[in-house]
This record gives sequence, C-alpha cells and structure tokens, in this order.
Amino acid sequence: MIKNDHLSESESWLKERVKERPEVGMVLGSGLSDSLDSLDNSLEMSWGDIPGFPTPTVKGHKGKLLFSEIAGKNVMVQQGRLHWYEGKSWREVIFPIRLQKLMGVKQLIITNAAGGIDKDLEPGDLVTVTDHINFSGDNPLRGSNDERFGVRFPDLTDAYTEDLRETARKAGDNLGVDLGEGVYVMTTGPSYETPAEIRALRTLGADLVGMSTVPEVITARHAEMHVLAISCVTNKAAGMQDQLTHEEVMEVTASTNETLGNLIEEIVSLL
Ligand code: HPA
Repeated sequence: MIKNDHLSESESWLKERVKERPEVGMVLGSGLSDSLDSLDNSLEMSWGDIPGFPTPTVKGHKGKLLFSEIAGKNVMVQQGRLHWYEGKSWREVIFPIRLQKLMGVKQLIITNAAGGIDKDLEPGDLVTVTDHINFSGDNPLRGSNDERFGVRFPDLTDAYTEDLRETARKAGDNLGVDLGEGVYVMTTGPSYETPAEIRALRTLGADLVGMSTVPEVITARHAEMHVLAISCVTNKAAGMQDQLTHEEVMEVTASTNETLGNLIEEIVSLL
C-alpha cells in the first residue's frame, strides 16, 4: 500500500541529492531501458534505494532513475515501470509519474512495447501515439482527488500534445527514422489478447495494443504535464502471427534500443 506520505518521502530524499531540477522526463518501458544508457555524468539510483518507492517484479524492467543532461536540458529518466498485472495498486503504478511531477518535469516522453493491430505495422516500427482507448476497466484517478496534482475531472482531449508529436516527426526526419502514428489501447495483461479481441479492438479504432502507458498518461495530464508517447511495435497482434512470446518482445526491443535512444535525444534537443 502506497500512501501519499511515501511520495513526499521519495521527493525529499531525491531533492537532497539532485541539484538541478529536471524539466523533461522519460519513462523507458519493457526492454527499452537501455536506450539511454550512454548518458554522460548521470546520477543513477535503484528504486529500491529510494525511501517510499515501490519495487518492480517483471523481467526486463530495470527499476532505476537517472538524472542527467541532454542537449543542455536537465532530464529525469525512469528505467522500467510498474504494471497493474504485477498485482500493483494504481497508486503504485502512477507513483513514479507523480514523482516526476514533484521533481519539476513538465514534458514527459513515455515509451512502451506494443503489438501492432494496424496491418501495416511491422516489428521494429516506432509509432507516436495520437490518442488512447482505456480498456483497463478502471481509472488510476478513482478515489478521492489529490488536489496537489490536479482537478477532479481532467480533460483528455489533447492528451498527446500535438506540438510534441510534431517535434518527434522532425526528429525522425533529421535521423531518417520513419515514425508512424496511431491510437493505443491498453489491456490489463498479463495474458496477451485473443484474436477475437484484436479484431474487436481494430473495429473500435485501435492501431496498437499494450499493457501500460494509459494510466501514466492520465496521471500526467491530470498534473498538467505535456505528454509524448512512442510505441515500439514488437509483434503483430494476436491472430496476425503464429504465436506471441515475451522473448520475441524482448528481442525486438533490444534491437530497437539504439534507434529509440537516438530519437529521444534528438527530440529533447529540439524541445
Ligand atoms: N499485446 C499486449 N501487450 C504487448 C503486446 C501485445 O501484442 N506486445 C507487446 N506488449
């Protein structure tokens, strides 16, 4: 159980150690944690060392925070994330996002591994998210509203800021990385979807499917952070290829890390 005072505990502990306040934050998801490993002079800490911070359980999730600089901007990098399917509460899942807000982050770049529902998407493609469908069956803001962060009924009309998507497009052009665009749907996992579910989700307008991101984006928008989300397509969604394995997801993310890292650095330099 995470209480709000755990957030304050982590915040004060970090603020004693991190001199420069980060303005840009990042969340590096499944297998994508290594994409910014080469950052210079970064201050690195394991989640387990931060008082009050919840701990991850999933393989391929690093559970670290880095504070560094990219193109003269102070950044906070969250390596790994917490998922609802791990048995975590929503409060735990969104804890690191609220911590990013408390540390000063205004623009948040979220990454994830996703299955491609759109028939044109191939493993290894990078796609900026234009909108989402919350199929988790719940909302991380349910319960009493924490007024420190935002209003009771946050607007999600522009959840994925157009300016940031435009910046991502320019960064992609500069690097010769062809970025697609699509709607992301969150399912809870941990099982992958059935082929019938994927057909239904396609009919509903989803292009990408994954088990994260949506609660983080809702939390970030509640706290008036601007969000850019980038999906790394790791597989064709259920029923569109023979079978789905976590190993395949990890292989594809591993081979995409370098491109994604370069893309994020270019995006930050253009902000
Ligand atoms: N479904 C849900 N989550 C995923 C997938 C998928 O096909 N691929 C990577 N994460």
